[in-house]
Amino acid sequence: MSMSSGRFDGKTVVVTGGSAGIGLQTARDLHAEGAFVHILGRSADKLASAKESLGGDSRVLVHRCDVSEEALVKKTFEVIEASSGKVYGLVNNAAINPSRNDILHTEYRDWSDTLDVNLTGAFNCSRAAARQMLELGRGSIVNIASVGGINAFRTRTAYNVSKFGLIGLTQSMAIDYAEMNIRVNAVCPGYARTELTAPLFEKMGKEKFEALVSAHAMRRLGRPEEISRAILFLLSEDASFITGVALPVDGGYLLKG
Ligand SMILES: NC(=O)c1ccc[n+]([C@@H]2O[C@H](COP(=O)([O-])OP(=O)(O)OC[C@H]3O[C@@H](n4cnc5c(N)ncnc54)[C@H](OP(=O)(O)O)[C@@H]3O)[C@@H](O)[C@H]2O)c1
Repeated sequence: MSMSSGRFDGKTVVVTGGSAGIGLQTARDLHAEGAFVHILGRSADKLASAKESLGGDSRVLVHRCDVSEEALVKKTFEVIEASSGKVYGLVNNAAINPSRNDILHTEYRDWSDTLDVNLTGAFNCSRAAARQMLELGRGSIVNIASVGGINAFRTRTAYNVSKFGLIGLTQSMAIDYAEMNIRVNAVCPGYARTELTAPLFEKMGKEKFEALVSAHAMRRLGRPEEISRAILFLLSEDASFITGVALPVDGGYLLKG
Protein backbone atom coordinates (compact mmCIF):
# COMPACT_ATOMS: atom_id res chain seq x y z
CA MET A 1 0.00 0.00 0.00
CA SER A 2 1.37 3.44 -0.92
CA MET A 3 2.31 5.94 1.79
CA SER A 4 0.47 9.22 1.87
CA SER A 5 -0.42 12.05 4.14
CA GLY A 6 -3.35 14.33 3.70
CA ARG A 7 -6.72 15.50 4.85
CA PHE A 8 -8.34 12.14 4.10
CA ASP A 9 -5.80 9.72 5.56
CA GLY A 10 -7.49 6.37 6.14
CA LYS A 11 -10.96 7.72 5.37
CA THR A 12 -13.42 5.87 3.15
CA VAL A 13 -14.70 8.17 0.40
CA VAL A 14 -17.10 7.29 -2.43
CA VAL A 15 -17.09 9.15 -5.74
CA THR A 16 -19.97 8.35 -8.08
CA GLY A 17 -19.08 8.77 -11.74
CA GLY A 18 -15.42 8.75 -10.72
CA SER A 19 -14.33 6.97 -13.89
CA ALA A 20 -14.20 10.11 -16.06
CA GLY A 21 -14.02 13.90 -16.08
CA ILE A 22 -14.43 15.88 -12.86
CA GLY A 23 -15.13 12.70 -10.87
CA LEU A 24 -11.89 11.04 -11.98
CA GLN A 25 -9.91 14.16 -11.10
CA THR A 26 -11.60 14.22 -7.69
CA ALA A 27 -10.80 10.54 -7.13
CA ARG A 28 -7.16 11.24 -8.07
CA ASP A 29 -6.89 14.16 -5.63
CA LEU A 30 -8.60 12.23 -2.81
CA HIS A 31 -6.24 9.33 -3.35
CA ALA A 32 -3.26 11.68 -3.21
CA GLU A 33 -4.56 12.94 0.15
CA GLY A 34 -4.73 9.49 1.67
CA ALA A 35 -8.34 8.36 1.16
CA PHE A 36 -9.59 4.89 0.36
CA VAL A 37 -11.40 5.89 -2.80
CA HIS A 38 -14.36 3.91 -4.08
CA ILE A 39 -15.39 4.77 -7.63
CA LEU A 40 -18.88 3.93 -8.88
CA GLY A 41 -19.71 3.81 -12.60
CA ARG A 42 -21.57 1.77 -15.19
CA SER A 43 -18.89 0.90 -17.74
CA ALA A 44 -16.41 -1.78 -16.61
CA ASP A 45 -13.89 -0.58 -19.22
CA LYS A 46 -13.98 3.01 -17.98
CA LEU A 47 -13.64 1.79 -14.38
CA ALA A 48 -10.65 -0.38 -15.26
CA SER A 49 -8.85 2.44 -17.05
CA ALA A 50 -9.61 4.83 -14.19
CA LYS A 51 -8.05 2.39 -11.74
CA GLU A 52 -5.05 2.02 -14.02
CA SER A 53 -4.65 5.78 -14.39
CA LEU A 54 -4.52 5.99 -10.58
CA GLY A 55 -1.60 3.57 -10.57
CA GLY A 56 -3.65 0.47 -9.71
CA ASP A 57 -3.18 1.25 -6.02
CA SER A 58 -4.96 -0.87 -3.41
CA ARG A 59 -6.54 2.29 -1.95
CA VAL A 60 -8.56 2.68 -5.17
CA LEU A 61 -11.53 0.34 -5.52
CA VAL A 62 -13.93 0.38 -8.44
CA HIS A 63 -17.52 -0.86 -8.41
CA ARG A 64 -19.85 -1.43 -11.32
CA CYS A 65 -22.95 0.27 -10.06
CA ASP A 66 -25.65 2.30 -11.77
CA VAL A 67 -26.59 4.83 -9.07
CA SER A 68 -30.21 4.84 -10.21
CA GLU A 69 -30.60 1.19 -9.13
CA GLU A 70 -31.56 1.35 -5.47
CA ALA A 71 -30.93 -2.29 -4.53
CA LEU A 72 -27.55 -2.34 -6.26
CA VAL A 73 -26.49 0.88 -4.53
CA LYS A 74 -27.42 -0.61 -1.15
CA LYS A 75 -25.39 -3.74 -1.84
CA THR A 76 -22.42 -1.75 -3.16
CA PHE A 77 -22.26 0.34 0.02
CA GLU A 78 -22.26 -2.87 2.09
CA VAL A 79 -19.31 -4.13 0.04
CA ILE A 80 -17.56 -0.78 0.55
CA GLU A 81 -18.03 -0.91 4.33
CA ALA A 82 -16.73 -4.47 4.45
CA SER A 83 -13.61 -3.58 2.46
CA SER A 84 -12.38 -0.30 3.96
CA GLY A 85 -14.75 0.68 6.78
CA LYS A 86 -17.71 3.00 7.17
CA VAL A 87 -18.08 5.79 4.66
CA TYR A 88 -16.86 9.23 5.80
CA GLY A 89 -17.23 11.06 2.48
CA LEU A 90 -19.54 10.91 -0.51
CA VAL A 91 -19.28 12.88 -3.75
CA ASN A 92 -22.50 12.61 -5.75
CA ASN A 93 -21.03 13.42 -9.15
CA ALA A 94 -22.56 10.93 -11.62
CA ALA A 95 -24.80 12.65 -14.13
CA ILE A 96 -26.12 12.47 -17.65
CA ASN A 97 -27.50 15.12 -19.97
CA PRO A 98 -29.25 13.34 -22.84
CA SER A 99 -31.65 16.12 -23.79
CA ARG A 100 -30.85 19.72 -24.57
CA ASN A 101 -34.39 20.93 -25.11
CA ASP A 102 -37.28 23.03 -23.91
CA ILE A 103 -40.13 21.15 -22.25
CA LEU A 104 -42.14 20.54 -25.45
CA HIS A 105 -39.12 18.95 -27.12
CA THR A 106 -38.07 16.90 -24.10
CA GLU A 107 -38.86 13.20 -24.55
CA TYR A 108 -40.46 11.66 -21.47
CA ARG A 109 -37.74 8.99 -21.42
CA ASP A 110 -34.94 11.60 -21.37
CA TRP A 111 -36.70 13.49 -18.57
CA SER A 112 -37.07 10.38 -16.41
CA ASP A 113 -33.56 9.03 -17.15
CA THR A 114 -32.04 12.41 -16.22
CA LEU A 115 -33.92 12.61 -12.93
CA ASP A 116 -33.25 8.92 -12.18
CA VAL A 117 -29.48 9.31 -12.49
CA ASN A 118 -28.80 12.91 -11.46
CA LEU A 119 -31.27 13.21 -8.60
CA THR A 120 -32.56 9.78 -7.52
CA GLY A 121 -29.01 8.42 -7.89
CA ALA A 122 -27.83 11.00 -5.36
CA PHE A 123 -30.80 10.15 -3.12
CA ASN A 124 -29.93 6.43 -3.23
CA CYS A 125 -26.23 6.95 -2.49
CA SER A 126 -26.86 9.59 0.20
CA ARG A 127 -29.26 7.27 2.00
CA ALA A 128 -26.83 4.36 1.91
CA ALA A 129 -23.96 6.62 3.03
CA ALA A 130 -25.90 8.49 5.74
CA ARG A 131 -26.60 5.23 7.60
CA GLN A 132 -22.87 4.55 7.85
CA MET A 133 -22.04 8.17 8.69
CA LEU A 134 -24.52 8.13 11.59
CA GLU A 135 -22.82 5.02 12.97
CA LEU A 136 -19.40 6.60 12.43
CA GLY A 137 -20.52 9.78 14.18
CA ARG A 138 -19.46 12.08 11.36
CA GLY A 139 -19.54 12.49 7.61
CA SER A 140 -19.48 14.86 4.69
CA ILE A 141 -21.38 14.83 1.40
CA VAL A 142 -20.70 17.02 -1.62
CA ASN A 143 -23.28 17.07 -4.40
CA ILE A 144 -22.09 18.18 -7.82
CA ALA A 145 -24.84 20.44 -9.10
CA SER A 146 -24.24 23.12 -11.76
CA VAL A 147 -24.64 26.85 -12.32
CA GLY A 148 -27.75 25.57 -14.18
CA GLY A 149 -29.09 24.50 -10.76
CA ILE A 150 -29.05 28.15 -9.62
CA ASN A 151 -30.01 30.01 -12.82
CA ALA A 152 -31.64 27.79 -15.45
CA PHE A 153 -29.77 27.24 -18.73
CA ARG A 154 -31.91 27.93 -21.79
CA THR A 155 -33.37 24.72 -23.37
CA ARG A 156 -32.07 22.35 -20.71
CA THR A 157 -35.31 21.51 -18.87
CA ALA A 158 -34.53 18.06 -17.48
CA TYR A 159 -30.91 18.80 -16.57
CA ASN A 160 -31.74 22.13 -14.89
CA VAL A 161 -34.52 20.55 -12.83
CA SER A 162 -32.27 17.69 -11.73
CA LYS A 163 -29.65 20.18 -10.52
CA PHE A 164 -32.18 22.45 -8.76
CA GLY A 165 -33.41 19.27 -7.07
CA LEU A 166 -29.90 18.33 -6.02
CA ILE A 167 -29.52 21.69 -4.27
CA GLY A 168 -32.85 20.96 -2.55
CA LEU A 169 -31.50 17.58 -1.43
CA THR A 170 -28.37 19.34 -0.17
CA GLN A 171 -30.34 21.75 2.02
CA SER A 172 -32.77 19.07 3.23
CA MET A 173 -30.04 16.71 4.37
CA ALA A 174 -27.90 19.53 5.74
CA ILE A 175 -30.64 20.71 8.07
CA ASP A 176 -31.70 17.23 9.14
CA TYR A 177 -28.19 15.96 9.95
CA ALA A 178 -26.28 19.05 11.09
CA GLU A 179 -26.57 18.06 14.75
CA MET A 180 -25.30 14.58 13.95
CA ASN A 181 -22.03 16.00 12.62
CA ILE A 182 -22.85 15.24 8.99
CA ARG A 183 -22.33 18.18 6.62
CA VAL A 184 -23.91 18.34 3.18
CA ASN A 185 -22.89 20.90 0.57
CA ALA A 186 -23.02 21.38 -3.19
CA VAL A 187 -20.55 22.60 -5.78
CA CYS A 188 -21.95 24.34 -8.86
CA PRO A 189 -19.39 24.24 -11.65
CA GLY A 190 -19.32 26.47 -14.67
CA TYR A 191 -18.26 24.81 -17.94
CA ALA A 192 -15.21 22.56 -18.01
CA ARG A 193 -14.09 20.32 -20.87
CA THR A 194 -14.98 16.68 -20.10
CA GLU A 195 -16.62 13.71 -21.84
CA LEU A 196 -19.99 15.19 -20.94
CA THR A 197 -19.35 18.59 -22.53
CA ALA A 198 -16.88 17.84 -25.35
CA PRO A 199 -19.59 16.64 -27.79
CA LEU A 200 -21.62 19.77 -27.04
CA PHE A 201 -18.61 22.02 -27.73
CA GLU A 202 -17.95 20.16 -31.01
CA LYS A 203 -21.54 20.50 -32.14
CA MET A 204 -22.02 24.17 -31.35
CA GLY A 205 -19.35 25.54 -33.69
CA LYS A 206 -16.64 28.15 -33.13
CA GLU A 207 -18.81 31.22 -32.68
CA LYS A 208 -21.18 29.75 -30.10
CA PHE A 209 -18.27 28.12 -28.31
CA GLU A 210 -16.51 31.49 -28.01
CA ALA A 211 -19.72 33.06 -26.70
CA LEU A 212 -19.96 30.31 -24.10
CA VAL A 213 -16.36 30.86 -23.02
CA SER A 214 -17.06 34.61 -22.77
CA ALA A 215 -20.11 33.97 -20.61
CA HIS A 216 -17.59 33.21 -17.85
CA ALA A 217 -16.39 36.57 -16.51
CA MET A 218 -12.85 35.14 -16.46
CA ARG A 219 -13.21 34.44 -20.21
CA ARG A 220 -12.10 30.85 -20.02
CA LEU A 221 -13.46 27.42 -19.15
CA GLY A 222 -12.76 25.74 -15.84
CA ARG A 223 -10.29 22.91 -15.44
CA PRO A 224 -11.40 19.69 -13.70
CA GLU A 225 -8.72 20.21 -11.02
CA GLU A 226 -10.18 23.64 -10.20
CA ILE A 227 -13.55 22.02 -9.55
CA SER A 228 -11.97 19.15 -7.63
CA ARG A 229 -10.12 21.52 -5.27
CA ALA A 230 -13.43 23.06 -4.19
CA ILE A 231 -14.98 19.60 -3.75
CA LEU A 232 -12.11 18.47 -1.51
CA PHE A 233 -12.34 21.67 0.53
CA LEU A 234 -16.05 21.19 1.28
CA LEU A 235 -15.61 17.46 1.87
CA SER A 236 -12.74 17.99 4.33
CA GLU A 237 -12.55 19.23 7.90
CA ASP A 238 -11.25 22.54 6.51
CA ALA A 239 -14.95 23.26 5.96
CA SER A 240 -15.95 22.02 9.43
CA PHE A 241 -18.47 24.86 10.04
CA ILE A 242 -19.94 24.93 6.52
CA THR A 243 -23.13 23.07 5.71
CA GLY A 244 -26.03 23.54 3.31
CA VAL A 245 -24.23 25.81 0.85
CA ALA A 246 -24.22 25.63 -2.95
CA LEU A 247 -20.84 27.03 -3.98
CA PRO A 248 -20.43 28.30 -7.55
CA VAL A 249 -17.03 27.37 -9.00
CA ASP A 250 -17.63 29.10 -12.26
CA GLY A 251 -15.10 31.79 -13.17
CA GLY A 252 -17.81 34.40 -12.64
CA TYR A 253 -20.44 32.77 -14.90
CA LEU A 254 -23.26 33.79 -12.55
CA LEU A 255 -22.14 37.42 -12.34
CA LYS A 256 -24.23 39.86 -14.31
CA GLY A 257 -21.93 42.40 -15.96
N1 LIG B 1 -18.24 19.40 -17.33
C1 LIG B 1 -18.90 20.50 -17.08
O1 LIG B 1 -18.73 21.54 -17.75
C2 LIG B 1 -19.90 20.55 -15.96
C3 LIG B 1 -20.52 21.77 -15.68
C4 LIG B 1 -21.44 21.83 -14.63
C5 LIG B 1 -21.71 20.68 -13.90
N2 LIG B 1 -21.10 19.51 -14.23
C6 LIG B 1 -21.42 18.34 -13.41
O2 LIG B 1 -20.23 17.74 -12.97
C7 LIG B 1 -20.41 16.33 -12.87
C8 LIG B 1 -19.35 15.59 -13.67
O3 LIG B 1 -19.46 15.99 -15.03
P1 LIG B 1 -18.40 15.53 -16.11
O4 LIG B 1 -18.45 16.56 -17.16
O5 LIG B 1 -17.12 15.16 -15.45
O6 LIG B 1 -19.13 14.19 -16.65
P2 LIG B 1 -18.56 12.97 -17.56
O7 LIG B 1 -17.19 13.27 -18.04
O8 LIG B 1 -19.62 12.63 -18.52
O9 LIG B 1 -18.49 11.80 -16.47
C9 LIG B 1 -19.66 11.30 -15.90
C10 LIG B 1 -19.34 10.12 -15.04
O10 LIG B 1 -20.55 9.61 -14.48
C11 LIG B 1 -20.66 8.23 -14.73
N3 LIG B 1 -22.09 7.88 -14.79
C12 LIG B 1 -23.02 8.33 -15.66
N4 LIG B 1 -24.21 7.77 -15.39
C13 LIG B 1 -24.03 6.97 -14.30
C14 LIG B 1 -24.87 6.13 -13.54
N5 LIG B 1 -26.18 5.98 -13.86
N6 LIG B 1 -24.36 5.46 -12.48
C15 LIG B 1 -23.06 5.59 -12.17
N7 LIG B 1 -22.20 6.37 -12.85
C16 LIG B 1 -22.68 7.05 -13.91
C17 LIG B 1 -19.90 8.02 -16.03
O11 LIG B 1 -19.43 6.68 -16.20
P3 LIG B 1 -20.36 5.56 -16.93
O12 LIG B 1 -20.91 6.23 -18.18
O13 LIG B 1 -19.45 4.42 -17.22
O14 LIG B 1 -21.40 5.20 -15.95
C18 LIG B 1 -18.72 8.96 -15.80
O15 LIG B 1 -17.75 8.33 -14.97
C19 LIG B 1 -21.83 16.05 -13.32
O16 LIG B 1 -22.68 16.02 -12.20
C20 LIG B 1 -22.16 17.26 -14.19
O17 LIG B 1 -23.53 17.49 -14.28
C21 LIG B 1 -20.21 19.41 -15.24
